[in-house]
Amino acid sequence: GMTAYINNLMAKMTLEEKIGQLNLLTPGGGVATGAVVSKDVEAKIRAGSVGGLFGVTGVEKIRQAQQLAVTGSRLKIPLLFGSDVIHGYKTTFPIPLGLSCSWDTLLIEESARIAAAEATADGLNWAFSPMVDIARDPRWGRVAEGSGEDPYLGSRIAASMVRGYQGNFSSSNLMACVKHFALYGAAEGGRDYNTTDMSRVKMYEYYLPPYKAAVDAGVGSVMTSFNEIDGIPASGNPWLLTDLLRKQWGFKGFVVTDYTSINEMTDHGSGDLQTVSAMALRAGVDMDMVGEGFLTTLKQSLKAGLVTQQQIDNACRRVLEAKYKLGLFDDPFRFCNAERAAAEVLSAEKKVAARNYGVRSAVLLKNANQVLPLKKSGTIALIGPLANNQSNMPGTWSVSGDAKLAIPVLQGMKEIAGNNVNIIYSKGANITDDSLLARKANVFGEKVDRDPLSPDQLIAQAVATANKADVIVAVLGEASEMSGESASRSDISLPASQQKLLTALSATGKPLVLVLMSGRPLTIEKENRLTDALLHVWFQGQEAGHSIADLLFGNYNPSGKLTMSFPRNVGQIPVYYNYKNTGRPQQDLNAEAQKFRSNYLDVSNEPLFPFGYGLSYTNFNYSEISLDKTSMKPAESIKASVSVSNTGKYDGEEVVQLYIRDVYASVTQPVKKLKAFRKVTLKAGETKTVTFDISINDLKFTGSDLRQIYEPGAFRVFIGGNSKDVKEAGFILTK
Ligand code: IFM
Repeated sequence: GMTAYINNLMAKMTLEEKIGQLNLLTPGGGVATGAVVSKDVEAKIRAGSVGGLFGVTGVEKIRQAQQLAVTGSRLKIPLLFGSDVIHGYKTTFPIPLGLSCSWDTLLIEESARIAAAEATADGLNWAFSPMVDIARDPRWGRVAEGSGEDPYLGSRIAASMVRGYQGNFSSSNLMACVKHFALYGAAEGGRDYNTTDMSRVKMYEYYLPPYKAAVDAGVGSVMTSFNEIDGIPASGNPWLLTDLLRKQWGFKGFVVTDYTSINEMTDHGSGDLQTVSAMALRAGVDMDMVGEGFLTTLKQSLKAGLVTQQQIDNACRRVLEAKYKLGLFDDPFRFCNAERAAAEVLSAEKKVAARNYGVRSAVLLKNANQVLPLKKSGTIALIGPLANNQSNMPGTWSVSGDAKLAIPVLQGMKEIAGNNVNIIYSKGANITDDSLLARKANVFGEKVDRDPLSPDQLIAQAVATANKADVIVAVLGEASEMSGESASRSDISLPASQQKLLTALSATGKPLVLVLMSGRPLTIEKENRLTDALLHVWFQGQEAGHSIADLLFGNYNPSGKLTMSFPRNVGQIPVYYNYKNTGRPQQDLNAEAQKFRSNYLDVSNEPLFPFGYGLSYTNFNYSEISLDKTSMKPAESIKASVSVSNTGKYDGEEVVQLYIRDVYASVTQPVKKLKAFRKVTLKAGETKTVTFDISINDLKFTGSDLRQIYEPGAFRVFIGGNSKDVKEAGFILTK
């Protein structure tokens, strides 16, 4: 078995070789120059000083690097090969925030499984995904990579992704890595890498559940976050990595840091490299990403008594166990099959999947006068800097995706429209004319191109195009690198250049559809007023043009629901659906400001679009809630039912959502907590009854002692198509 095998192997290992297993490197320039790894990395692999690599892709390169490890090093220990497989691999899928809006956990599981099949065919065995950081602040650019603001939905998605990636560890499965542990999404002010600070109750109730769900689903590895928690950086925090993760949650896999996050503890102010490296190992880190603090200091620290042999052995064992579970000791080349690579990578089946995920990620936010779906006749003016663009389509963190394979919206529209439609295109604006924003958003490539025409000329051209059309479709938004890592914004509006364009288009008086791309909720009150229809598509990946055209022409009826609230302005942030009532709640949430009540003078408490919100081309009508009883004992359950009717003229899908409120509790509870949801398909005219079982687990909360508890008393139950427009009923939990 595994333990005997690893005992035997470790008995042969020198201290240096054990420390070597804890070292994760990226070959840097090696990939660009054509060599597999740099000379320096090659020497380290031979010396047994490397446990894994990331940033090497392609089955042949990985084979060569693995060959080096299993023939060139003394003990022939195979390497892990990791990568940021975040939303698809070479075939790019919608960004995770988009995919979360499908509320379809089986679909999301499938997307991870397909990404794993493609990535493993290309030699990889470890994905730095899922990213499950709960976030209530859309200024933080990395909301693009997560599943939004809700711990229940986030937990369901986290578990689905782990299952999809890891499966039963066949040669088509990857080891998953849940990240970033922990609380990375709670950075103060939404500024990436910033400090987090919150109560334990808040952590346990709102921020920790998705990581725990990934652990419960058997995730093989955990990545630490860059932020500090209670004044101790996550990568050196023993409460986090040992007491919580291992002792309370029973995590059995290995912990890897984020990129150089041990070294960064020096800048945090925790100590010099030797001190922080020892701190990280003691806290429970097993593998050091890139910074080589372990490699260069642990031996000295052992001599100095800062770490123990047992701590080094434990970390080494966990890394070796991961390799064992992946089958690498049986066959180091298990994932290096050139035939499989040729068949799987960028296969037709994956394109079909990408297009399917795309249509299911979009959220219809407005559709006045049923301007959508578009008729397949007449003239459509397709306008905007993202309408005929490829470079932004894959979306942030698609390191293996090739933007040149992406389908622009213009192409997709032309293919799908049929012969009776005339599509005329005009760019209309640069993504931004703000040189600072453009420069910063260009860090990862040429994603903010500048047109030779002046902004006024561009707008004039677009208006002339629009005037020739029956309907305008404007495709606007962020460049993909305006969200994602290190892309925090203090102003999350549409760039001014595009606002100006939209205002000019609206002045034509033509029906105006806005297709919005972004990696985060934007503040779009004005855009909402200026347009007839608003379709939010996030970044859809390689098949963007096809999936967006499918949606616009009604080949697919939108069914996505927001997983993050859209604020009206930045000053409202954080605005989220599961807020506390306070002692001075506003009586009427839409009323003018009320004196001595918790509200603002200049904006309502309500977001522009709430969590769970999203329209369809058809209409869904909800009956009142019927409960099978009005009181329950802890061992019982209550059935809550509603009838949902499709009263419109299109078939469609609806995400029926159930929320619960514990009216009085020893720790104050939010006004609503999502506890269940079901996605139902309804033909035009059809009615279905949806029944949820409410059991004691749905009534629990984090008590002051951090245990999950329940308390008898009154509960409210809400069911609806979003977190705001709901039917309501009540019941009593008795002793
Ligand atoms: O996986 C990522 C992480 O999300 C951010 N820092 C770098 C890692 C490896 O690329």
